[in-house]
Amino acid sequence: MKKKTILVTCAFPYSNGPIHLGHLLEHIQADIWVRYRKMKGEEVLFMSSDDSHGAAIMLKAIDLDMDPSKMIQKMHKEHKEDLLKFSISHDIYCSTNDLENKNITQKIYLILKKRGYIKKKIVSQLYDSEKKFFLPDRFVKGNCPNCLSPDQYGDNCEICGVVYNSTDLLHPRSILSQSPLKIKKTKHIFLILSKFQKKLFEWINCMPFSQSVKNKSIEWISKGLKDWDISRDDPYFGFKIPEEKRKYFYVWLDATIGYIASSRTLFKKRKISFQRFWKNNSEDLLFHFIGKDIIYFHTLFWPSILEGIKYRKPNNIFVHGHLTVDGQKMSKSKGNFISANSYLKHFDSDYLRYYFASKLSSKFEDVNFNLTDFSNKINKELINKIINLASRNASFIKKYFCNYLSKKLDNMFLYQKFIKESKKIEQSFISLNFNSAVKRICFLSDLANKYVEMCSPWKIDPKLENKKMHEICSTGINLFKILMTYLSPILPKIAERSSNFLNYSFHHDWNSLNNPLLNHKINDFKSLASRIDLNGKIFLKED
Ligand code: 2FM
Ligand code: ZN
Repeated sequence: MKKKTILVTCAFPYSNGPIHLGHLLEHIQADIWVRYRKMKGEEVLFMSSDDSHGAAIMLKAIDLDMDPSKMIQKMHKEHKEDLLKFSISHDIYCSTNDLENKNITQKIYLILKKRGYIKKKIVSQLYDSEKKFFLPDRFVKGNCPNCLSPDQYGDNCEICGVVYNSTDLLHPRSILSQSPLKIKKTKHIFLILSKFQKKLFEWINCMPFSQSVKNKSIEWISKGLKDWDISRDDPYFGFKIPEEKRKYFYVWLDATIGYIASSRTLFKKRKISFQRFWKNNSEDLLFHFIGKDIIYFHTLFWPSILEGIKYRKPNNIFVHGHLTVDGQKMSKSKGNFISANSYLKHFDSDYLRYYFASKLSSKFEDVNFNLTDFSNKINKELINKIINLASRNASFIKKYFCNYLSKKLDNMFLYQKFIKESKKIEQSFISLNFNSAVKRICFLSDLANKYVEMCSPWKIDPKLENKKMHEICSTGINLFKILMTYLSPILPKIAERSSNFLNYSFHHDWNSLNNPLLNHKINDFKSLASRIDLNGKIFLKED
């Protein structure tokens, strides 16, 4: 029987800024999960894409005085490169502006229209007469209709917290032209979500979502789903709506449909059946990784589209919390924005992977990045406990045994104990409780180091107890091998270096942990990772 195809996606980064630590939190989380499952021999495909449309992207291009198509192309190249620098192993990385997505989005829209899921309504919108376009909420400021505070955005008041429509703002003005705004009526196109309400309710109830994702989604449905506005007026950077004049699809419509389009491109390359994967009740699996701010789109809007076109729905949606820096939301204005590249000027990509893994669980709690905490974790755990286990034993193996490991181990009991932990560690990977996997691995490394301390090979006279010393150090190296096998989904680069040192490949090795490396030649130990020295590091500021 053919293996199930497992398709894993990350939310698509917008094309109007660089990859930053917030994106990386999600892409690293998904990548660890994917790498683990691939190591187990499963057929996993991992994809993401740039989210290339919308008003914010159009306005960014205007700001840069660039053609938006050129801008998103440049951004796409940079995003792809940056994600790769962190070993994110996407099988494909598309753009929602791809022709495949245009064709599919337009086709899907026409199907939804034909099936009676689309309607048109006149709406009131704020219009910038100077720039000659309708403005999205975040490009409008005015006085709060509730507390009258000045300088509030078009979606909610930062002073009293009330949520409103931008047309409710008092004295609204454009943040682009600074000119006062008019309210103008225009015809918009809506997806009638209420038609999917009953099906969605049933679906959400039997999904394995975390309880909080389920509760939130049910709460929204229970309030009744309003029609979803899926159109925007010209000028807009996006795909034209067929059978309409000067109307474009709202970015979130073609973004979610981008999951289908990217998979189509990937499946074509890999000769996988698109029809088999996307048909209703497909046995193949679909998993999305997203942040907690976009649950709504993924548990309500996206499955409604799929229901409307009679496609399969996701098997699970994994939601993570936000990334904070020193307890605060990351933002350029606060000066705590960390892009992928500014991080890489100072630290190894695997260190961030390790740090995030040590903090990520299946709950959607926020994950905080703090430099002191980060360097402590890397130096005190990864380097002192794990990497040193290899270096301290390797020196003896080289000096006295020409880099050959012994024919038997000194402590098979400890070796077996390490293997016995594998089930629990695997469970932690599967359930996305990477923090508990890291805790268990650190606990094992403590045991290994205590064992080496206790045996103190440096106190042994190699002339008198040559065999003893050989078997102790070979045990140490073999324990390191197990730890690195467990860590390899988290630390691909360090695992690769360890693999060269051990003269042994970790790939697909989870299932053969039982075989220690005996009478095996390793290579000279070369530094696998170095300590972080925070002294004198000026960090975090964007250049
Ligand atoms: O919130 C975001 O960053 C969106 N660009 C995510 C889109 S995910 C998918 F629907 F494309
Ligand atoms: Zn207010």
